[in-house]
Amino acid sequence: MRRMLGVKRNQKYILIFCIAAILIWMTFVWHSQISGYSDERSSGHAGNRKLSVPFGKRGLKAEGKTFRLDGQAITLISGAVHYFRIPEEYWEDRLLKMKACGLNTIETYVPWNLHEPTPNNFDFSGNLNLVKFLKLAQKLDFLVLLRPGPYICSEWEFGGLPSWLLRDPQMKVRTLYSPFFEAVIGYFEKLIPLVAPLQYSKGGPIVAFQIDNEYGSYFNDKNYLPGIKSAMVKYGVRELFFTSDNGDGARKQTLPGVLKTINFKTVKSHFNDLLTIQPNAPLMVMEFWTGWFDWWGAEHHTMSLQEYGETLNEIFSYEASVNFYMFHGGTNFGFMNGAFQDDTGYHADITSYDYDAIIAENGDLTLKYHKTKEIIEQYFPEMKKADVMLPSPILRKAYDSVATDQCLPIWNTLEFIQELTMDFPQCMEMLDINDGAGQSYGYTLYRTEIAGVKNDNFQVGGLENVHDRGTFFVDQVKKAFVASGKGASNVIGLPAPGSEKSFQLDVLVENGGRINWEHFDDQRKGLTGKLTVDGSDVKGWKVYAFEMKQKFIEQIAVANWATCTKGKELKSPHFFMYTLEIDNAPSDTYVDMSEWGKGVVFVNGMNLGRYWAIGPQQALYLPAPWLVKGKNQIIVFEEMKPAHMLKFSSNPKLTTN
Ligand code: GLA
Repeated sequence: MRRMLGVKRNQKYILIFCIAAILIWMTFVWHSQISGYSDERSSGHAGNRKLSVPFGKRGLKAEGKTFRLDGQAITLISGAVHYFRIPEEYWEDRLLKMKACGLNTIETYVPWNLHEPTPNNFDFSGNLNLVKFLKLAQKLDFLVLLRPGPYICSEWEFGGLPSWLLRDPQMKVRTLYSPFFEAVIGYFEKLIPLVAPLQYSKGGPIVAFQIDNEYGSYFNDKNYLPGIKSAMVKYGVRELFFTSDNGDGARKQTLPGVLKTINFKTVKSHFNDLLTIQPNAPLMVMEFWTGWFDWWGAEHHTMSLQEYGETLNEIFSYEASVNFYMFHGGTNFGFMNGAFQDDTGYHADITSYDYDAIIAENGDLTLKYHKTKEIIEQYFPEMKKADVMLPSPILRKAYDSVATDQCLPIWNTLEFIQELTMDFPQCMEMLDINDGAGQSYGYTLYRTEIAGVKNDNFQVGGLENVHDRGTFFVDQVKKAFVASGKGASNVIGLPAPGSEKSFQLDVLVENGGRINWEHFDDQRKGLTGKLTVDGSDVKGWKVYAFEMKQKFIEQIAVANWATCTKGKELKSPHFFMYTLEIDNAPSDTYVDMSEWGKGVVFVNGMNLGRYWAIGPQQALYLPAPWLVKGKNQIIVFEEMKPAHMLKFSSNPKLTTN
């Protein structure tokens, strides 16, 4: 018995010992999780955070007026940086520069239109590899704020919504209208499970998710935000939710447990207003606009260093968290620029999204960068990143100008495009191409034969259906140009090549970029209705979708190019082909289009974006990773007047009036 008792007592001691050991071990792990995280953040070490162990991760919480990460107070010092606006090869360069400035967080939108170019056909590869981008952010020891939309605004084509939504004539985007909402569900069903494993509670960097974008300013459906939130939860979102709004918009967001944040350029009364509607929560400016975007025909916008510095000081004096929008803007490559409409009409945004931001479009550190670093270190000395090495500078070069005599009229490229026939013009979204998704971007050519015109002049009507810029050709010679928008005439007179004679009428319509702010259900492009000639509807059209995708550029590159003169006004748009020979490793450069008219540049098949003589942008950023050592093919699509040479510059040309 005694022996037995002794054994029992021993067992008891062993049990107590084991429990104590487990408790000590748990405390140790718990502590190392929390302090290890914050130590490493403040010491600035990149890449050594043990995020694969989720144990003890309570995540980001809004507790009273304080953000707490795993229980420790934290100020989010975040920068907006869009992976889809930066060549993948430069992601690390830009993020390291942000790290060295003292940021602890990055923020990105997710563009639905690029990730689901046609329904149920998803692309998360290459430059759209969001998971890779998020893992890189984690490697560099950043927290992440994710803004997956579905609407993102952002001066991005249609605010990131896919154009194929507009095939539904009743479409009501950003509402619970079921065809819209079902499309959102289909997208989230794919997107959220990709990012959910990268949430902080699962060992990843994402600490919070935004629901849609500035919905308070739109608010067409009070059930919309709750619906989007539920969908995010359904597919796996577990971290903190927030919304971001302009001015009064925040008042309309009444979702329990969802943090309201505010957007502004200067503090004014914005924080105080936010405090009146949300008194017991951390203050955060989700978009502190560090500059502003640009559009064709206007001056380049900037924000003075002094105003910028004063505002940042004021933000920190409120003990607020901040997301700099943009920290690095990047580029609207391809046809991805957005647009807006105001009292004066439709305005398309330019290709550069430099934004006068803290890191320039080409990756240069600006004066604002140094100012930002100085102010962050003043308020948060522990954020000094003395040991974060800035990446070595990316070389930029003005390559020697190149000449060509090779050109190809637009008419000679029609053979590479599927010809569609129809009685009356359809908008580009309704065209029967891309497996029923229609045409999303680029130009559309509408062709018809006109017979029996009585006079030497004829009147074309229905011009309110031209979106956004239409060029009219009679027998393939340019005769008139129409821009949609306020004040545009609804009728033009064109010269007929002789009365009673039949002739060809071509209308080339450019989608200049869908509006990313308001007027959403009105964004169909091309010819959105009938045209009339001398008052009668024109029936019988051939239609060609000039999407100008990579395959088309490859096809036209081996077509029969002719010799043509340059420097003169063109009778019709032409492609011009150049070879840029590079002897060594390529450098970044700018294609200088200041002597050209209007068009698009393609480099080795990649669409660099649009240029236009009216400015403010006169040169297109060409990143080195898109060039190769040896021969590079550059094709320019010019609508108006080609220059004699193709020039390069080592610096941007954003003219300010
Ligand atoms: C708003 C939007 C952003 C962007 C800015 C202007 O705040 O939320 O996406 O459009 O305006 O740059």
